[in-house]
Amino acid sequence: MANKSHFNSGHIAMNKLKKNGVAHSSHIEAAMPSKTYHGIFTEDAVQFLKKLPNNSIQLILIDPPYNLDLATWDTFSNYLEWARQWLDEIYRVISDTGNCIIFGGFQYQDLKKGDLLEIMHYTRHHTPLRFTNLVIWYYKNGMSAHRFFANRHEEAIWLSKTNKYFFDLDSVRAPYDEETKEIYKRDKRLIAENIDKGKNPTNVWEIGRLNGNSVERVGHPTQKPLELIRRFVKGLSYPGSLVLDFFAGSGTTGRVCIEESRNSILVDNDPKMVEYFNRHLNNMNGSFFSAEHCIRKNPDLTDFLNLVRNEYEIEV
Ligand SMILES: C[S@@+](CC[C@H](N)C(=O)[O-])C[C@H]1O[C@@H](n2cnc3c(N)ncnc32)[C@H](O)[C@@H]1O
Repeated sequence: MANKSHFNSGHIAMNKLKKNGVAHSSHIEAAMPSKTYHGIFTEDAVQFLKKLPNNSIQLILIDPPYNLDLATWDTFSNYLEWARQWLDEIYRVISDTGNCIIFGGFQYQDLKKGDLLEIMHYTRHHTPLRFTNLVIWYYKNGMSAHRFFANRHEEAIWLSKTNKYFFDLDSVRAPYDEETKEIYKRDKRLIAENIDKGKNPTNVWEIGRLNGNSVERVGHPTQKPLELIRRFVKGLSYPGSLVLDFFAGSGTTGRVCIEESRNSILVDNDPKMVEYFNRHLNNMNGSFFSAEHCIRKNPDLTDFLNLVRNEYEIEV
């Protein structure tokens, strides 16, 4: 039976563009900025979002609380009533090429607790956001269990505003091992340049969780691994663009943005975020070729956005 994708008009059009060396209309040729700006805001996420202008953000990347009693910030009496306040702002603030990543899991224990299923149901039925991908973060290290299969994955949903969403697959391709490379290079049907670029990392990513003595740890109870955040930042935003994390926690997203030459806005209502973030900054070892960076704590939002825009306009 023929592969159905051979008749998919989207696939056919993409293949034709690739063959003719033409970029997709969502492609953005971004110059490396000479400086990036990182604003840290100690504020409530919903209050902050309401002040952001329309179409101002390339990537929203969030790891929200789910009412799981993991910490003092993780308790709500009506989860969705609260979550819909920030979910309703996402479509407005991301740009037409913009993306949004929301981390979560499928808990589904009682109605008081939130989970990604509930978030997906809400965005599907109550917002114009488009669902692009579900990414499974698979890890080998985790808790044991006796009354169910021990959990070894978390999920992240990728939403976008339009079908012109930005995606730089080449920046996040996974290299082939040397043996596979050799075999593929002998196959005359395959293009050597594409083999060197590596393969699509697929939507199942094996990345270890941070254990207690991980060198990345800065003290936040639910800190995410840098590698996980980096893949989203690199693939779904471009150098000099603006990334927002309004449940910033320790500021992992901000650290990755500094290293990958993106601008960032970090928001958390816990003032300890500044302390955690300083530890991230101390842990940075200069192994990335990045633009100079400038950090502003609780700046005036309009001034901050002007800084980002001016720098970007000069460089492009
Ligand atoms: C799951 S953690 C994020 C961890 C982060 N991904 C990291 O790698 O460090 C969620 C964060 O949301 C923050 N938070 C909870 N409610 C908030 C609110 N209403 N406004 C802003 N931040 C909030 C908490 O203080 C917590 O740090």
